[in-house]
Amino acid sequence: MVETNPFATVQQIAGGYCLPRCLHVVADLGVADALDETPRTAADLAASVGAHPDALSRVLRLLAAHGVFATQDDQFSHSPASRLLRTDHPQSMRAFAQMFGLPVFWETFDALDHSVRTGLPAAAKVFPEGFWSYFAQHPEAGRVFNAAMNAKAHGAVAGILATYDFSGFGLIGDIGGGSGHLLHAILDAVPAATGVLFDLPHVIEDVASLASERLTFQSGDFFCDALPSCDAYLLYGDHSRLGRRRVRRDTQGDTLGCPAARQRVADRDDRPR
Ligand SMILES: C[S@@+](CC[C@H](N)C(=O)[O-])C[C@H]1O[C@@H](n2cnc3c(N)ncnc32)[C@H](O)[C@@H]1O
Repeated sequence: MVETNPFATVQQIAGGYCLPRCLHVVADLGVADALDETPRTAADLAASVGAHPDALSRVLRLLAAHGVFATQDDQFSHSPASRLLRTDHPQSMRAFAQMFGLPVFWETFDALDHSVRTGLPAAAKVFPEGFWSYFAQHPEAGRVFNAAMNAKAHGAVAGILATYDFSGFGLIGDIGGGSGHLLHAILDAVPAATGVLFDLPHVIEDVASLASERLTFQSGDFFCDALPSCDAYLLYGDHSRLGRRRVRRDTQGDTLGCPAARQRVADRDDRPR
């Protein structure tokens, strides 16, 4: 561990939430989209995104001190990290930054003391209807979450395709696949394969128009509904442990049906071959 001044350590950690909060707000406002290759003043940017000039300037200066945007002579320009906040960046992380500012995340962490005192999930106290119901009831937040999952996958999909050979499978099921970014990439890489994306109804509604001969959609709840019968199953992402166990049990055909499903469960825990 790097030795630092202990006062500075406590000071930085105690106020550490300011920095991510600035990132969330700037991502929400779309400041990176308002900045191209020409440096601009904070006042100019504030006018473009509907913000207060001085307040935005303070936020941008803090972010620039941490490598998000660069600043010189009262002008702001892009840094490599702030470019990732642009919506049109091919590996955009804007939605990922926004996701952590959503009430369902932020307010849950605000209630962390409840978890630490009781051992119970803070999320269940703050959003008793549950994480996924929250997204079903707040479609805009749900879209940010799904876009964030897509953004997160930018850094991982190439590695998954490089280390796992999917060519032996005919029909591949992506269980809790979100908007299907991993499945799309696999189908692009394995032209002989077809896919079925399984997720909750509000998620499937948003992507169903992308159905094709090679890609079908099935909505349902992986805790209680029958899963599609496939040759391989993807369980990619942070599904709950219970959900992963249920899907594994079901797709191996031992107690919960789906008897034709038999082969392998390909997920991020698998060792590369
Ligand atoms: C953490 S996201 C992962 C999305 C995607 N697989 C990825 O990694 O980018 C979990 C996904 O599981 C879905 N999900 C959660 N509970 C579910 C359930 N009971 N039945 C079906 N899908 C569920 C969510 O809607 C969400 O799309």
